[in-house]
Amino acid sequence: MMPALSLPAIIGHRCARAEAPENTLAGLRRAAALGARWVEVDVRLTADGVPVLLHDDTLERTTTGRGALAATTLADLARCDAGGGEPVPTLEAFLGAALGFGIGVNLELKGEPGDPEALAKAALTTAQRLWPATAPPPLISSFEPACLAAAARHAPGWPRGLLLDEIAPGWPETAAAVGAVAIIVNHLCLASPAAVAALAANGRTVAVYTVNDPARARALLSWGVAAIISDHPDIFSKSGDRDSSMQK
Ligand code: G3P
Ligand code: MG
Repeated sequence: MMPALSLPAIIGHRCARAEAPENTLAGLRRAAALGARWVEVDVRLTADGVPVLLHDDTLERTTTGRGALAATTLADLARCDAGGGEPVPTLEAFLGAALGFGIGVNLELKGEPGDPEALAKAALTTAQRLWPATAPPPLISSFEPACLAAAARHAPGWPRGLLLDEIAPGWPETAAAVGAVAIIVNHLCLASPAAVAALAANGRTVAVYTVNDPARARALLSWGVAAIISDHPDIFSKSGDRDSSMQK
Protein backbone atom coordinates (compact mmCIF):
# COMPACT_ATOMS: atom_id res chain seq x y z
CA MET A 1 0.00 0.00 0.00
CA MET A 2 1.51 3.29 -1.08
CA PRO A 3 1.54 6.05 1.57
CA ALA A 4 -0.65 9.11 1.07
CA LEU A 5 1.20 11.83 -0.82
CA SER A 6 1.54 15.14 0.95
CA LEU A 7 3.33 17.87 -0.99
CA PRO A 8 4.10 21.46 -0.05
CA ALA A 9 2.54 24.18 -2.21
CA ILE A 10 5.93 25.07 -3.72
CA ILE A 11 8.65 22.70 -4.94
CA GLY A 12 11.95 24.19 -6.09
CA HIS A 13 12.62 23.33 -9.74
CA ARG A 14 16.09 21.82 -10.28
CA CYS A 15 16.57 23.05 -6.67
CA ALA A 16 16.30 26.82 -7.26
CA ARG A 17 16.99 27.18 -10.97
CA ALA A 18 16.52 30.95 -11.15
CA GLU A 19 18.70 31.56 -8.13
CA ALA A 20 21.68 29.17 -8.40
CA PRO A 21 23.20 26.63 -10.81
CA GLU A 22 20.53 24.03 -11.50
CA ASN A 23 20.72 20.54 -9.98
CA THR A 24 23.66 21.40 -7.72
CA LEU A 25 24.33 21.42 -4.00
CA ALA A 26 24.67 25.20 -4.21
CA GLY A 27 21.16 25.22 -5.60
CA LEU A 28 19.98 23.05 -2.74
CA ARG A 29 21.59 25.38 -0.22
CA ARG A 30 19.95 28.35 -1.93
CA ALA A 31 16.58 26.60 -1.92
CA ALA A 32 16.98 25.89 1.79
CA ALA A 33 17.88 29.53 2.43
CA LEU A 34 14.76 30.60 0.56
CA GLY A 35 12.62 28.37 2.73
CA ALA A 36 11.97 25.51 0.31
CA ARG A 37 10.40 22.44 1.87
CA TRP A 38 10.88 20.25 -1.22
CA VAL A 39 12.96 20.39 -4.37
CA GLU A 40 12.79 18.60 -7.71
CA VAL A 41 15.96 17.32 -9.37
CA ASP A 42 16.75 15.35 -12.54
CA VAL A 43 18.58 12.03 -12.30
CA ARG A 44 20.69 10.28 -14.97
CA LEU A 45 23.46 7.67 -15.03
CA THR A 46 27.14 8.14 -15.78
CA ALA A 47 28.97 5.73 -18.09
CA ASP A 48 29.93 3.68 -15.04
CA GLY A 49 26.35 3.55 -13.79
CA VAL A 50 26.44 6.14 -11.01
CA PRO A 51 23.24 8.19 -10.56
CA VAL A 52 23.96 11.93 -10.71
CA LEU A 53 21.94 15.13 -11.07
CA LEU A 54 21.80 16.42 -14.64
CA HIS A 55 18.89 17.60 -16.75
CA ASP A 56 20.25 17.18 -20.28
CA ASP A 57 21.70 13.97 -21.68
CA THR A 58 24.76 16.01 -22.72
CA LEU A 59 27.12 18.14 -20.65
CA GLU A 60 27.46 21.33 -22.68
CA ARG A 61 24.53 23.48 -21.53
CA THR A 62 25.07 23.30 -17.79
CA THR A 63 28.72 22.29 -17.34
CA THR A 64 32.19 22.90 -18.72
CA GLY A 65 32.25 19.31 -20.00
CA ARG A 66 31.46 18.02 -23.48
CA GLY A 67 29.59 15.07 -24.91
CA ALA A 68 27.09 12.60 -23.56
CA LEU A 69 26.79 11.90 -19.85
CA ALA A 70 26.29 8.23 -20.77
CA ALA A 71 29.80 8.27 -22.24
CA THR A 72 31.37 10.07 -19.25
CA THR A 73 32.66 8.29 -16.15
CA LEU A 74 32.12 9.71 -12.69
CA ALA A 75 35.85 10.43 -12.46
CA ASP A 76 35.75 12.47 -15.67
CA LEU A 77 32.53 14.19 -14.62
CA ALA A 78 34.19 15.30 -11.39
CA ARG A 79 36.45 17.57 -13.48
CA CYS A 80 33.46 19.47 -14.88
CA ASP A 81 32.18 22.72 -13.41
CA ALA A 82 28.39 22.88 -13.15
CA GLY A 83 28.44 26.59 -12.31
CA GLY A 84 30.36 28.71 -9.82
CA GLY A 85 32.86 25.94 -9.21
CA GLU A 86 30.13 23.47 -8.31
CA PRO A 87 30.52 19.84 -9.39
CA VAL A 88 27.72 17.76 -10.83
CA PRO A 89 26.54 16.08 -7.63
CA THR A 90 26.01 12.39 -7.22
CA LEU A 91 22.50 11.43 -6.15
CA GLU A 92 24.08 10.12 -2.96
CA ALA A 93 25.67 13.47 -2.12
CA PHE A 94 22.48 15.32 -2.95
CA LEU A 95 20.27 13.09 -0.81
CA GLY A 96 22.64 13.35 2.14
CA ALA A 97 22.56 17.13 1.88
CA ALA A 98 18.77 17.24 1.46
CA LEU A 99 18.35 15.10 4.57
CA GLY A 100 20.65 17.46 6.43
CA PHE A 101 18.43 20.39 5.50
CA GLY A 102 15.23 18.44 6.16
CA ILE A 103 14.14 19.05 2.58
CA GLY A 104 11.86 16.60 0.78
CA VAL A 105 12.73 15.47 -2.73
CA ASN A 106 11.08 14.79 -6.05
CA LEU A 107 13.45 12.65 -8.10
CA GLU A 108 12.72 12.90 -11.80
CA LEU A 109 14.14 9.90 -13.64
CA LYS A 110 15.40 10.97 -17.07
CA GLY A 111 15.21 7.63 -18.84
CA GLU A 112 15.69 8.80 -22.43
CA PRO A 113 18.06 8.04 -24.02
CA GLY A 114 19.22 5.07 -22.02
CA ASP A 115 17.99 2.09 -20.06
CA PRO A 116 15.02 2.96 -17.79
CA GLU A 117 15.47 -0.24 -15.81
CA ALA A 118 19.15 0.44 -15.10
CA LEU A 119 18.41 4.04 -14.13
CA ALA A 120 15.55 3.18 -11.80
CA LYS A 121 17.46 0.32 -10.21
CA ALA A 122 20.60 2.39 -9.55
CA ALA A 123 18.77 5.51 -8.40
CA LEU A 124 16.32 3.74 -6.14
CA THR A 125 18.88 1.37 -4.65
CA THR A 126 20.96 4.39 -3.70
CA ALA A 127 18.01 6.41 -2.45
CA GLN A 128 16.51 3.62 -0.37
CA ARG A 129 19.87 2.91 1.25
CA LEU A 130 20.13 6.52 2.39
CA TRP A 131 16.58 7.71 2.97
CA PRO A 132 15.21 6.97 6.47
CA ALA A 133 11.80 5.39 6.84
CA THR A 134 10.90 8.19 9.25
CA ALA A 135 11.16 10.89 6.54
CA PRO A 136 8.44 11.43 3.91
CA PRO A 137 9.49 9.23 0.99
CA PRO A 138 10.74 10.85 -2.19
CA LEU A 139 8.26 11.32 -5.01
CA ILE A 140 9.59 9.44 -8.05
CA SER A 141 8.50 11.01 -11.32
CA SER A 142 9.17 10.51 -15.00
CA PHE A 143 7.85 11.29 -18.44
CA GLU A 144 8.72 7.70 -19.37
CA PRO A 145 6.26 5.07 -18.17
CA ALA A 146 9.04 2.46 -18.34
CA CYS A 147 10.93 4.36 -15.63
CA LEU A 148 7.87 4.39 -13.39
CA ALA A 149 7.17 0.71 -14.01
CA ALA A 150 10.75 -0.02 -12.99
CA ALA A 151 10.39 2.27 -9.96
CA ALA A 152 7.34 0.25 -8.91
CA ARG A 153 9.52 -2.87 -8.85
CA HIS A 154 12.51 -1.34 -7.09
CA ALA A 155 10.74 0.97 -4.62
CA PRO A 156 7.14 -0.27 -4.47
CA GLY A 157 6.32 1.75 -1.35
CA TRP A 158 7.47 5.11 -2.74
CA PRO A 159 4.94 7.30 -4.52
CA ARG A 160 5.15 7.73 -8.27
CA GLY A 161 4.16 10.68 -10.43
CA LEU A 162 3.52 10.56 -14.16
CA LEU A 163 4.85 13.66 -15.94
CA LEU A 164 2.77 14.95 -18.83
CA ASP A 165 3.89 17.62 -21.26
CA GLU A 166 0.47 17.45 -22.88
CA ILE A 167 -2.82 15.85 -21.95
CA ALA A 168 -3.19 13.23 -24.65
CA PRO A 169 -5.67 10.34 -24.87
CA GLY A 170 -4.51 7.30 -22.95
CA TRP A 171 -2.90 9.09 -19.99
CA PRO A 172 -5.34 7.62 -17.41
CA GLU A 173 -4.52 4.11 -18.56
CA THR A 174 -0.80 4.84 -18.40
CA ALA A 175 -1.13 6.37 -14.94
CA ALA A 176 -3.06 3.34 -13.73
CA ALA A 177 -0.63 0.88 -15.29
CA VAL A 178 2.36 2.36 -13.46
CA GLY A 179 0.45 3.00 -10.22
CA ALA A 180 0.93 6.77 -10.36
CA VAL A 181 -0.59 8.59 -7.39
CA ALA A 182 0.32 11.95 -8.88
CA ILE A 183 0.05 13.66 -12.25
CA ILE A 184 2.62 16.37 -12.81
CA VAL A 185 1.60 18.38 -15.84
CA ASN A 186 2.90 21.32 -17.82
CA HIS A 187 0.80 24.14 -16.35
CA LEU A 188 0.14 25.51 -19.85
CA CYS A 189 -2.18 22.52 -20.33
CA LEU A 190 -4.53 23.77 -17.61
CA ALA A 191 -7.09 26.44 -18.45
CA SER A 192 -9.77 25.81 -15.83
CA PRO A 193 -10.56 24.16 -12.50
CA ALA A 194 -12.35 21.44 -14.47
CA ALA A 195 -9.09 20.51 -16.17
CA VAL A 196 -7.48 20.05 -12.77
CA ALA A 197 -10.45 18.05 -11.53
CA ALA A 198 -10.18 15.66 -14.49
CA LEU A 199 -6.55 14.94 -13.65
CA ALA A 200 -7.37 14.57 -9.95
CA ALA A 201 -10.01 11.86 -10.52
CA ASN A 202 -9.50 8.64 -8.55
CA GLY A 203 -7.73 10.51 -5.78
CA ARG A 204 -4.66 11.52 -7.75
CA THR A 205 -2.56 14.45 -6.58
CA VAL A 206 -2.02 17.11 -9.26
CA ALA A 207 1.19 19.13 -9.48
CA VAL A 208 2.38 21.49 -12.22
CA TYR A 209 5.63 22.69 -13.76
CA THR A 210 7.15 25.27 -14.27
CA VAL A 211 5.35 28.27 -12.78
CA ASN A 212 7.25 31.47 -12.04
CA ASP A 213 4.42 34.00 -12.00
CA PRO A 214 2.88 34.35 -8.51
CA ALA A 215 -0.59 35.22 -9.85
CA ARG A 216 -0.63 32.12 -12.05
CA ALA A 217 0.62 30.02 -9.14
CA ARG A 218 -2.15 31.29 -6.90
CA ALA A 219 -4.79 30.60 -9.54
CA LEU A 220 -3.58 27.05 -10.06
CA LEU A 221 -3.54 26.37 -6.31
CA SER A 222 -7.07 27.77 -6.02
CA TRP A 223 -8.13 25.36 -8.79
CA GLY A 224 -7.03 22.36 -6.75
CA VAL A 225 -3.43 21.93 -7.83
CA ALA A 226 -1.51 20.59 -4.83
CA ALA A 227 1.98 21.79 -5.72
CA ILE A 228 3.69 24.27 -8.01
CA ILE A 229 7.16 23.42 -9.28
CA SER A 230 8.93 26.77 -9.60
CA ASP A 231 12.38 28.09 -10.41
CA HIS A 232 11.74 30.44 -7.47
CA PRO A 233 11.18 28.50 -4.23
CA ASP A 234 10.21 31.85 -2.69
CA ILE A 235 7.73 32.68 -5.44
CA PHE A 236 5.20 34.15 -3.01
CA SER A 237 7.58 36.21 -0.94
CA LYS A 238 8.40 38.83 -3.57
CA SER A 239 5.18 38.81 -5.55
CA GLY A 240 4.50 41.49 -8.09
CA ASP A 241 7.98 41.75 -9.51
CA ARG A 242 8.63 38.18 -10.54
CA ASP A 243 10.16 37.66 -13.98
CA SER A 244 8.10 35.14 -15.90
CA SER A 245 10.59 34.71 -18.75
CA MET A 246 11.76 31.28 -17.59
CA GLN A 247 8.33 29.71 -17.62
CA LYS A 248 8.02 26.56 -19.66
O1 G3P B 1 9.59 17.53 -13.03
C1 G3P B 1 9.04 18.67 -13.57
C2 G3P B 1 9.93 19.28 -14.60
O2 G3P B 1 11.23 19.29 -14.11
C3 G3P B 1 9.86 18.54 -15.89
O3 G3P B 1 10.53 19.19 -16.91
O4 G3P B 1 12.44 19.42 -18.44
O5 G3P B 1 12.39 20.71 -16.31
O6 G3P B 1 12.80 18.27 -16.28
P1 G3P B 1 12.10 19.40 -16.98
MG1 MG C 1 12.88 17.89 -14.12
